[in-house]
Formats: sequence, C-alpha cells, structure tokens
Amino acid sequence: MSIERKGFGSAGGGEETRLFTLKAGPFSAGFSDFGATLVAFEAPAAGGGRDDLVLGFSRAADYEGSDAYLGATVGRFANRIARGAFSLDGKDFRLATNNGPNHLHGGKRGFDKRIWKTEGYEEGGAAALRFELFSPDGEEGYPGDLSVVATYRLDPAGILDLAFEAECGAPTILSLTQHAYWNLRGHDRGGILDHELRLAASRYLPVDETLIPTGELAPVAGGPFDFRTAKRVGRDLAAVGGYDHCFVLDREGGLAGSGAGEAAPALVDFAELRDPESGRRMRVATSLPGVQLYTGNFLSGFLGKGGARYHKHAGLCLETELFPDAPNRPDFPQATLRPGQVWRHATRYSFFV
Ligand code: GLA
Repeated sequence: MSIERKGFGSAGGGEETRLFTLKAGPFSAGFSDFGATLVAFEAPAAGGGRDDLVLGFSRAADYEGSDAYLGATVGRFANRIARGAFSLDGKDFRLATNNGPNHLHGGKRGFDKRIWKTEGYEEGGAAALRFELFSPDGEEGYPGDLSVVATYRLDPAGILDLAFEAECGAPTILSLTQHAYWNLRGHDRGGILDHELRLAASRYLPVDETLIPTGELAPVAGGPFDFRTAKRVGRDLAAVGGYDHCFVLDREGGLAGSGAGEAAPALVDFAELRDPESGRRMRVATSLPGVQLYTGNFLSGFLGKGGARYHKHAGLCLETELFPDAPNRPDFPQATLRPGQVWRHATRYSFFV
C-alpha cells in the first residue's frame, strides 16, 4: 500500500490544494483536501486494466465552481432544511438558503468548498487519510463551534471505510454524508439506468415540490420505490421522475439514532449495486438511519475529468444520512449534537470485481 501526494491547483481565494491517492492491492482512491472529496476510485476490470468508478473533476477550481457535490464530504447538514429555518432549545436559527427556498448540503459555502487539514497514514495493510475541519459558530447560520474528523481508509480487499467524529461548543445540528456519484462500469461509460440496485428499505420519505419530506414514512411495497429485491435502476424511474429520495433503512430494533453521545450504531448492510456489463458490485453498509438515492437527475452534461461529459443519470449517489429536514421533524431521528457528546457514524463501501 502507499499514499501519493500531488498538487490539485489553487482554490479558496488562492490557497493551494492537494490530491492524495491511496493505493491498496488492485484498488486506488484519490481524495482532495478541497472538500475532503473523493475524486477518483479505481478498480480492476475483469479483462485486465482498470476503471475509475466515480464522477469527478481534474482540479480543485472545477469543484469550487460546481454545485453538483461530486464526491464531496457534505456538511454541516446533508440534504435540505425547509426554508433554512429551525429552532433548537427555544431559539430560532436562519441558515443560508441556496436551493430555491431551502437550505441544501451546508449552504453557500459548505464543507465541500472548504480546505480540510489532511494527514495520510498507513495502518495494517490499509492506506488512510484523516481529514479535519473546524467550523466556527455562525458559519452559514449554524450555531456552535464544530470540529469534524472524517477518516477514509482503503484496504487491499476492496473495502473503503468512512468514519465521522464531531464535537461542538454549543448545541447544534449535524448530519454528514459522502456524495460520490458511482458508475460501476466507469465514470465515462454512459449512464447507470442499467445498473441493478437492491436496497433494504421498506419505507421512504415522500417529498413536496421543493424536495422537503412531507413527514410521512411511506411503505415502498410494490411501487416504484421498492428495491427490496434487486431491480434495474431505470425500470420504474420514469414513474418517479428520477429518484431523489431518502429511504428509511430497515434495522433490527427500529431506526438508528442520531449518533450523538452514544456508541456508533452497528453497521447495517443496506445496499448492493451491480453493473451487469462489467459484473462489478458494490455493497454499502452504514450506521445512519437513511440513505438518499439520487440518480443524478440534475447532471447537465458538463465536462468532467479526462474530457468525460456527465449527462443526466451518468452516476448514482447513495448518500447515507439522517433524514432531510430532521431539525423540523420531532418524530424523525434527531440531528441535535450537544457539548460533551461525540457524533459518530460510519459507512462502508465494499467492492467485488
Ligand atoms: C442531493 C440532492 C439533490 C441534488 C444533489 C446535488 O442529492 O438531494 O436534489 O441537489 O444533491 O446536485
């Protein structure tokens, strides 16, 4: 295993950024300190050679100019908060609104647009990166200082582990995610509608016209949201107009908690994605209670790395998360983090080639 470092261009008002490439066995994962972003993930191909399975750009400035969150580590709050408003302990807070009337993915300059302090290390047979970020009280409207550590670890058997730990200086809200767009055939090999997906989720969150959950946990049974048995992603997609929904992950003993101040909930194996052409499979497990299945509906045909064009449905995101708009929904698993608590969650991606 090894860790390579090189420049990734300037961003953030002239600051230099870096690209770190973890190599373990036949796999490699490239991350930038700009947004703690997964820029590339290479896996071997059955017929020899390798493919890069995530959408990305070739320099930090392109990430800075994009609102697609390609591969980003997203915070403070993944997905939407209605009208950017919530109250906590009787106080009202206003967050930046950057998605129609709503707050999305941490606001105008979320964690995906910050340069994280990054340290690479080797551990057992694995190569790892520890990303650290400090978010001051008031940033994008959020209360309380917040320190976040995101650790990504790649092992030679094809397991990519992500672990989050965060602590705050005053009560706040938190839901971190990883926003990679996967295409198991290769990022430049067309769309994901033929991929097969299995999701261990018996319920999902219906949304209003601005993509805010209505509050209902609706059964998927028999409808277009039913992925409990693997099916082609494109099979029922037209009926939904493209997936951009949070699924409630089935878990023994009910929903996973907020992850604040407790031992991290156990990982639940909830997804398997398979590309029938390459035969590649990815399994995903998480301690979080939900996953946003997003089928790249807003990808507009922009130019990515290596001259690839990313059209609608070029990649698919499985964003593990607390539920969108949780701060306004007392009946959802709570997103509150308080001083003295540690917010802990983990997600594991396993690849089979
Ligand atoms: C999330 C959202 C989508 C979209 C993408 C980024 O997954 O749910 O609606 O905003 O991020 O483009």
